[in-house]
Amino acid sequence: MNALNVAVAGLGTVGRETVRLLRARRAELKERLGAELRLVAVADRAAAREARALGLPASVVRYGDPLEMARRAEADLFVELLGGLETPKRFATTVLGRGKALVTANKRLLAHAWPDVAGAARAGGARLAFEGSVAGGIPVLRALELSFSGDRVLGLDGIRNGTTTSLLSRGEEGASPADALAEAQALGFAEKDPSMDLSGQDAAQKLTVLAGLVTGGWLKPGSFPVAGIEPVTARDLSFARERLGMAARLVASLRFSGKPGAPAVSASVAPTLVPLGHPLAAVRRQYNALLVHTASAGDLMFYGRGAGAGPTASAVLADVFVLARDIRGGLPPAQSASRRLDLASPDHAVSPFYLRLEVLDRPGALARIADALADAGVSIAAIHQDKAVGGRSVPVMIVTHATPRGRFERARKRIMSLAAVKPSHCAMRMMA
Ligand SMILES: NC(=O)c1ccc[n+]([C@@H]2O[C@H](COP(=O)([O-])OP(=O)(O)OC[C@H]3O[C@@H](n4cnc5c(N)ncnc54)[C@H](OP(=O)(O)O)[C@@H]3O)[C@@H](O)[C@H]2O)c1
Repeated sequence: MNALNVAVAGLGTVGRETVRLLRARRAELKERLGAELRLVAVADRAAAREARALGLPASVVRYGDPLEMARRAEADLFVELLGGLETPKRFATTVLGRGKALVTANKRLLAHAWPDVAGAARAGGARLAFEGSVAGGIPVLRALELSFSGDRVLGLDGIRNGTTTSLLSRGEEGASPADALAEAQALGFAEKDPSMDLSGQDAAQKLTVLAGLVTGGWLKPGSFPVAGIEPVTARDLSFARERLGMAARLVASLRFSGKPGAPAVSASVAPTLVPLGHPLAAVRRQYNALLVHTASAGDLMFYGRGAGAGPTASAVLADVFVLARDIRGGLPPAQSASRRLDLASPDHAVSPFYLRLEVLDRPGALARIADALADAGVSIAAIHQDKAVGGRSVPVMIVTHATPRGRFERARKRIMSLAAVKPSHCAMRMMA
C-alpha cells in the first residue's frame, strides 16, 4: 500500500492547522511511514471556502455534511474535528462501523459516549486514537497506554485546563480575572464561553478519558465531585502565596485501587493549594501538566501546551501517523541509523553566557576585558565586580547578551591571555 487516504471533518481552529500540516509535512511523513498520506476529502459547513483558503486541489472532495463524508468518502482514515456531541457521535460510529480508522480530539465525545464509540470500533474491527483530546500537544495518552505497560499507575494529578491556570497564575501576578481571560482568549486557548473551563467540567471530561485509558472502564461524567475556580478571589491567591507559601491550581486527580480486572477509582476536580516548591505550582498560563504516580518508575511529570491549533494538530497528526503505521502492518520503514547525521558546529549555537573571572586589581584591566568581548562581537548585558577578598584579585562576573558560542570562545581565550586575568575562571552557557 503506497498511499493511505485521509478525510478530515471540521475545518475550524484545529482542522485547518491539521490539514495545513498534513500537506506541508507530506514528504517527511511519507519518508517515515513508507507510504503517502493523501488528503482525499474534507467536510465543513464552509468546506468550499475553507478548502479554497487552504489552497486544496480540486481532487480533494468537499462535503458540507460530515455524515455524508463518513458514509461515502473513499478514505482509510477519518479525522473528526467538529466539536460537540451528537454529530461527532454519529460520525464516529458510522466511520468505525465501516471498519475505518478514526482520529478525534473530542474529549466531550469520549467522556459522554465512550461505550458507543468503543463498541462501534470493536464491532467494525477499527482503530481509534484520541491523543489530542486530553492535553493538546502533550503525548500523555500514548505514554499511559504503552509506556507503563510493565508498571502500575497508582494515580494522576493534572492541571488540564489552560484557562483556569491562566486566571490563577496571572491573578498571582496581579492581573484581574477579566484581563487574564481576555488575554487567554486572544491567545486562542480559552473558549469564547469559558463556563465549562471555570466550572471544572472541561477538566472533568479529560479525567474521564484518562481514567478510561488507565483502567479500561468508563468513569461516567457527573459521577464524581467537580468544583470550579469561581469562588477563588485575589485575596485568596495573595494570602496563599504570602502567608502559606502556596499557589492555587485547579487540580484533577485520580487514584487507582482494587485488583486488575476489578479496578476501583477515586476521582475529583477541585481548586487546590499546592506548595510553591511543588512542580504543579510552576505550571502557569496556558501550560498543562500531568503528574503520574507509578509503582516502579516513581513520579513522572508531563508538561506542555495543552491546547491551541498547533499543539492539538501536532497530536492529531501523530495519531494519524500511528494509525497509518498500524494499518500498514505496524512496521516503520527500515531506515533507522541507515544514514549519517551531519553535525552542526557547536560554534553556531546561540545563547547568553556567564563568565566569572579573577582579575588583578590593576588600572585598565576591566577596559581590556570589555575590549576583548567587543572585538569578538559579544555584547555585555551585565557586569558585576566583587570586593577583593584577601589578596589582590577581584572576582568579576559578566553576563553577555545572546551570542554564538564561537564568538564567546574567541573572546574568552583572549581574556584569559591578559596578564591581569588569573587562570581560574568559570564559563557557563545560560538558558534563555
Ligand atoms: N481548539 C483547541 O485548542 C482544542 C484543543 C484540544 C481539543 N480540541 C477539540 O478539537 C475539536 C475541534 O475544535 P476547534 O477548536 O477546531 O473547533 P472549531 O474552531 O469550532 O471548528 C469546528 C469546525 O467544524 C464545523 N462543524 C461543526 N459541526 C458541523 C456540522 N454538523 N456540519 C458541518 N460543519 C460542522 C464548524 O463549523 P461552524 O463554525 O459553522 O459550526 C467549524 O468550522 C473539538 O472537539 C475540540 O474540543 C480543540
